[in-house]
This record gives sequence, structure tokens and C-alpha cells, in this order.
Amino acid sequence: MTDITSQTEAALAAIAAATSLDALEAERLETLGKKGWVSLALKTLGGMSPEERTAAAPAIQSARASIAEALDAKKAALESAALEEQLARETVDLTLPAAAAPKGSVHPVSQVMDELAEIFADLGFAVATGPEIEDDWHNFTALNMDETHPARAMHDTFYFPDKTGEGKDILLRTHTSPVQIRSMLDQGAPIRIIAPGRVYRSDSDATHTPMFHQVEGLVIDRDIHLGHLKWTLETFFKAFFEREDIVLRLRPSYFPFTEPSVEVDVGYSTEGGRRVVGGHGDAPGHAWMELGGSGMVNARVLEFAGLDPKEWQGFAFGLGIDRIAMLKYGMNDLRAFFDGDPRWLAHYGFSPFDQPTLSAGVGARA
Ligand code: PHE
Repeated sequence: MTDITSQTEAALAAIAAATSLDALEAERLETLGKKGWVSLALKTLGGMSPEERTAAAPAIQSARASIAEALDAKKAALESAALEEQLARETVDLTLPAAAAPKGSVHPVSQVMDELAEIFADLGFAVATGPEIEDDWHNFTALNMDETHPARAMHDTFYFPDKTGEGKDILLRTHTSPVQIRSMLDQGAPIRIIAPGRVYRSDSDATHTPMFHQVEGLVIDRDIHLGHLKWTLETFFKAFFEREDIVLRLRPSYFPFTEPSVEVDVGYSTEGGRRVVGGHGDAPGHAWMELGGSGMVNARVLEFAGLDPKEWQGFAFGLGIDRIAMLKYGMNDLRAFFDGDPRWLAHYGFSPFDQPTLSAGVGARA
């Protein structure tokens, strides 16, 4: 009896003194483990007479219970201490300035898309999207380019193999103009959207890549005329380039989906080998640069998109995002946009913390 009592006291003291989970486990093995003295003592009960067992059992069982309880309590205490210690060791100081942490940069194309959305949102335009894998009808037919239309050949289209056998060709969209059709069919009129995104043409040199970016603009309402188009483009470019002396030239052109159609040129000068937008293109030291196409939406296109051309008119434009990005930020080779060279991105990229806003400046570099 006294033996068990003193052994139990010694075990409880050792458990209380254990400073690690390993030391605690060693103590468990010595007491409650298969060969621990408590387990061995319990085994001796089997060989006793009922009277002896009745006399001996309560002491052994209470020793087992108190040791088990002490082991559990100590284990919980050691584990929570270990967790506290780990939490203290792995602390992240969220009050450190975020700019000091390693970070990536925002590609100029993404930056310019954000700038476009910001400026056009201020003019009441929503951002619309459409699929890059498009069908022939939305990319061509509904835009007044039927199968035999020569303009189709000019688009250097990437087609997918015809798996349906229905002659319903699937292709990579060659321009963002199919989003005009999708928006009109989805929303009806009136409409005021821009649709920035990727487009694809089988073409490649210093100013052309097989994938590039366009932003489509579409306004449909009553009594819309060419003056609205010119004002919108001028207002946009002044905000985008952050200067007032932007001069646009609208040059008569042809697109099957607009009538009349105009190409949009902007005046620029060359300073230190860099093209700088601004001023009249015919002024000394100046020239015109083409930025995109536009015009009044062709009545046939409105009909394809389910609108009555007697009730609704509108204008549309399509601008090359990469081109206006090059002009604004002074890059001269379009191909470098898509090389993924981290040095180019480090140089021309934008801080993720430098969100373009009209109040702080669209694209102002930190
Ligand atoms: N979709 C034309 C292109 O890619 C541009 C354009 C858009 C022209 C809208 C007129 C109106 O060349």
C-alpha cells in the first residue's frame, strides 16, 4: 500500500516536473505503458484471491486514475505552450509598409485597360465582354460581312477545324466588334459600352503581333450623330494622354459595319526619338498617326442585332490598346509587350498600388 502511495507521489511529481512532451511520454511509459509499474500491478490482481483483490484493487486503480489524469492535463498544458511559442516565432508584422515587400508589376496593357475603364466610366460607359473564341456569325456576318465579303480576307483569321460539320465556323475573334452584336442582342437599346480585350490575326512584325488588344466602343441611342463620336473620342484622348492640345483628324474610310466610316488619326511630334502626342499633325515637326477605326453603326448591323434603325442610331469605334499604350508610355517595339521578359516588365510595369483614378491621374507614375 505505502509502496503504491509513494510510487504514485513520485510519478505525479515527475509528471509535474516534465518540461517536454518527450519527457512526459517517458513518464507515461514508466507508469501506464504496457510494462509500466501501474499496468504490472494491475496484472497481479488476476492472480489474487477475491478477498486480496478487494483489498488491493482500489489503491492501484486510484493510482492509475490520478496518474492518467495528471498525464492528460500536463500534455494539454505542454501542447498549448508549444503552440504559443510557435505563434510567437511565426509572427507576421502586418503594420510593415507593404511597398517594402517583394511584389510583381502590372503590365502596361492591363494598366491602360484600367485607365480606359476609368475614363469611360466617367462618361457613362459600362464595360462589356465577349468570348475570344467566337463564331463566324458574330465576328463577320452580323457585322455586314457575308461569306463572300472581301473584307473577310483582310482579317487573316485563325479558324478552328470544323467539327460540327454544320459549316458554322468557329474562330479566334479578329476584332472586338462582335461584342457590339452581343451587347445589342443582350441589352437592347439604348447602350453605352466599351469592350476591351484580346483579338487575333495571323500577322507579325514590329507593329503587329498575332494576338493584340483592342477596345471597342458602342453608343446606341436616339439622334446620335458623328459629332457625338468626335466629341467622345476627343474627350477620351485628352483624358487619356493628360493634355489639352490633342488634335484628331477623322479621315473618310470604309468598314462594312459603319456608314459613314472614319479612321481616327492623332497629331504628334517626335522629341528625342520619342513620339509625343499633341498638336496639329500638319504643323511643322508634326505628323499624323492612325489610332483606329470608327463610324456610325450601319443600319444593316442594327437590323442583325434586332434593333429598328428608324428608331435607333449609334456610333462605334475600335482602337488598338497596345498602340495607344506605346504612344503614352514610349515603347517602340510591340513584340516586347508579349515576350514576358521580367526586365522589360520591371522597367515599363506599374505598381499594383498605383491604381488609375481620374482624381489622382490616369497612369501617373509613382
Ligand atoms: N473592327 C475594326 C477593326 O478591327 C475597327 C472598327 C471598330 C471600325 C468599330 C469601326 C467601328 O479594324
